[in-house]
Amino acid sequence: MFNNTPFVLSFALLLSFPLLFLFAPRILPPKHVLISLPDELDDLALFRRATLSSLDISTTDNRHSPRLPRRHVRLGSTDPSSSPKPKIAFLFLTNSDLHFAPLWETFFANHSALYNIYIHADPSVKISPPGGVFESRFIAAKKTERASPTLISAARRLLATALLDDPLNSYFAVISQHCIPLHSFNFVYDSLFTKPVSESTRSSDSAPTQSSIYRSFIEILSDEPQLWDRYVARGENVMLPEIPFSRFRVGSQFFILTREHALLVIRDRRLWRKFRLSCLNIHSCYPEEHYFPTLLSMEDPDGATHYTLTRVNWTGSTGGHPHTYRPVEVSPQLIRKLRVSNSTYSFMFARKFSPDCLKPLLDIAQKVIFRD
Ligand SMILES: *[C@@H]1O[C@H](CO)[C@@H](O)[C@H](O)[C@H]1NC(C)=O
Ligand SMILES: *[C@@H]1O[C@H](CO)[C@@H](O)[C@H](O)[C@H]1NC(C)=O
Ligand SMILES: *[C@@H]1O[C@H](CO)[C@@H](O)[C@H](O)[C@H]1NC(C)=O
Repeated sequence: MFNNTPFVLSFALLLSFPLLFLFAPRILPPKHVLISLPDELDDLALFRRATLSSLDISTTDNRHSPRLPRRHVRLGSTDPSSSPKPKIAFLFLTNSDLHFAPLWETFFANHSALYNIYIHADPSVKISPPGGVFESRFIAAKKTERASPTLISAARRLLATALLDDPLNSYFAVISQHCIPLHSFNFVYDSLFTKPVSESTRSSDSAPTQSSIYRSFIEILSDEPQLWDRYVARGENVMLPEIPFSRFRVGSQFFILTREHALLVIRDRRLWRKFRLSCLNIHSCYPEEHYFPTLLSMEDPDGATHYTLTRVNWTGSTGGHPHTYRPVEVSPQLIRKLRVSNSTYSFMFARKFSPDCLKPLLDIAQKVIFRD
């Protein structure tokens, strides 16, 4: 018996050898773990705080006025004009200087009660402080990289921080350092907040809530040629069972979400568990172009427009980058051309512009861009 032990041991080892091969891909960590456990836990704590604080607001409201939605309570106050208006949260996602800060400064001028700015800047890059309305608007940020899920995390961090910061934040617009406005602030604000109400046929006593009227402006596409390659970028069958190929979507990560959808995004754990996996095929790896459209199309397809309000020119794109406009291309005609869309909404923003477009853009800002 005693003498047999080494034999039994080696026999067991021999038996487990093929099993090791079978399970190795599941046991061994992915080669390229981009999001560390501490970072992940940090984010989860932030998302939980933001979720709880938003729940607090709605339950407090319900307690004080079980039947009346907030809108009615506000309108019933003695001076309706004094009730605070909903705001747009502008979420700047960048890994370089905010080249167009002076242009945005003009866009935001004189509207301080109607917006908030939040900036997620890659901490591994030295960024010149833009000052002005951007002063002290930097949020706790982590490193971002292309072809990784870090851009999803950064956008979710921005959403959570903005949700926590101000209960009046009602729309959440993701903007990059290469984006420019195509209209005045008033035009954007009125399009987002008054157009949906006037289009609505609901009677005033059907108690409209924000979620029943406002939709998120997010591109959601399904029949794109590279969709399969993007789907299997993390390995075959990896996305199952949560995300069958038939439900996998693509769209631009420059979207405008409603508050309800911003909450939905930061509460998600199910899809994130799949999208956080690193890609085996880096050339088909654009997680941030799939996570948000897939999640929204699964959870609330009717609550989204399926198109974006940020114009981008994919003609002659190179290496996954769209056409980048140069100073010689900037003109009043270009701005007017970029606004034209196929939806009932005009495009509000456009990308990408090279940093040296700032001067020609400022030259036409008052006369063209902000004149509408
Ligand atoms: C903001 O308001 C001030 C005072 O009314 C005005 O002088 C200024 O031109 C306004 N700025 C912009 C960019 O509209
Ligand atoms: C899109 O970019 C191409 C060059 O890649 C350019 O010829 C075309 O004019 C651009 N379209 C618009 C609407 O700016
Ligand atoms: C509008 O739709 C047409 C036809 O599908 C398409 O060729 C064009 O690029 C679209 N324009 C914009 C601005 O998306």
